[in-house]
Amino acid sequence: MNNRILYITLFLSVIFTACKSQSGVQLPKDPKGFKLLSEYKIFQGNLTELMPVEGVIPYDINNPLFSDYAEKARFIWMPEGSKAIANEDGSIQFPEGTILVKNFYFHHKEKRQIVETRLLIKFKEKWEVYPYIWKEDQSDAELQVAGGTVPVTFSHLDKEISFRYTVPNKFQCKNCHNADNILLPIGPQIAQLNKIYSYQSGEKNQLDYWSEIGYLDYNRTTETPIMASWENANNDIASRAKAYLDGNCAHCHNSKGSASTSGLFLKFTELDPMRWGICKTPVAAGRGSGGRQVDIYPQHPEKSILVYRMESDDPGVMMPEIGRKLVHQEAVDLISEWIKSMDASPCK
Ligand code: HEC
Ligand code: HEC
Repeated sequence: MNNRILYITLFLSVIFTACKSQSGVQLPKDPKGFKLLSEYKIFQGNLTELMPVEGVIPYDINNPLFSDYAEKARFIWMPEGSKAIANEDGSIQFPEGTILVKNFYFHHKEKRQIVETRLLIKFKEKWEVYPYIWKEDQSDAELQVAGGTVPVTFSHLDKEISFRYTVPNKFQCKNCHNADNILLPIGPQIAQLNKIYSYQSGEKNQLDYWSEIGYLDYNRTTETPIMASWENANNDIASRAKAYLDGNCAHCHNSKGSASTSGLFLKFTELDPMRWGICKTPVAAGRGSGGRQVDIYPQHPEKSILVYRMESDDPGVMMPEIGRKLVHQEAVDLISEWIKSMDASPCK
């Protein structure tokens, strides 16, 4: 290449980069984050439409967390030229500058109310967390490190439910987003992302799409694991129940999580029935056990602490201990049905 062409190329690329950073996503310099959600420029136009700018990709996961029946819209953005790496165990390592976005909203009489937006941003060494609460007029969302509550009314199965939705504070994020005391994302794993998504350009498997746009190097095959979903009625009752416990409990209930000392490990891949709670006596038999002896008593949901704690909305008893106010009745039914279907095994 002669010098003139080199200079022209350099000049054009500088202009291109400048334009891109003007119209593109903004990363906060200060790990404290921006005061307003709009300052990140993740979305364009009217903020409530949640219309992503170029480079911000919507995604979904096979087996999501229950959050008081809130609906979710998830997005990811990575800085130009960087990409994520898939680890051997199916987890994904994201580059510096990655932003993960999770919006929570409810529908009532066709109207959408967005209540909060949570961000995870990867700085040099670690992830930072940001809870944003939406203003009543839905014009923007403000950073609220202390969390808060928002009055919500929504429709579920022809019923109208009104309650005060709780947004966790900044310090509670790590209760769940925790592996050996390091704050990490939970959802974006190979098995969770291995599903079809309806992009504007058409339907595509998310892993293929991420690879195509340069967000991830991954060769999906028929061997690539797919996380089971508790909602998939084609799956047998045990896989559905274990998928539910994986998505809703295992981020704390594993050997590196914040419930590691309970000895109750609820990952889908856990093979030891005692670890799921079968005939397992609780570590601390306080109020949380409701007078029951074991976490799971085969064939007897009414004797199982696990069901007792899922049925409860008492903050000192309920499981998960944070992140919900309402009882997830469909899940209580599912887990109860699973326990009833187990082979008899009188717990000693
Ligand atoms: C009760 C446990 C719990 C708490 C508390 C919690 N999260 Fe999460 N979060 C999850 C789980 C589980 C997922 C993945 C499943 C899903 O998205 O439905 C997730 C997903 C996310 C995502 C999408 C990327 C990812 O990791 O999957 C973001 C962003 C996020 N959380 C931010 C936050 C922030 C910020 C806070 C604190 C204000 C917080 N979360 C508190 C459990 C929790
Ligand atoms: C935010 C983290 C977190 C999440 C999410 C969570 N738990 Fe827990 N869980 C704990 C902690 C911490 C303990 C130990 C203290 C206690 O018993 O209250 C515990 C204890 C328990 C126990 C008693 C276990 C024993 O043998 O001592 C049961 C049963 C239980 N959890 C069920 C569940 C179920 C079912 C879910 C999902 C629906 C769930 N938990 C989700 C943190 C969590």
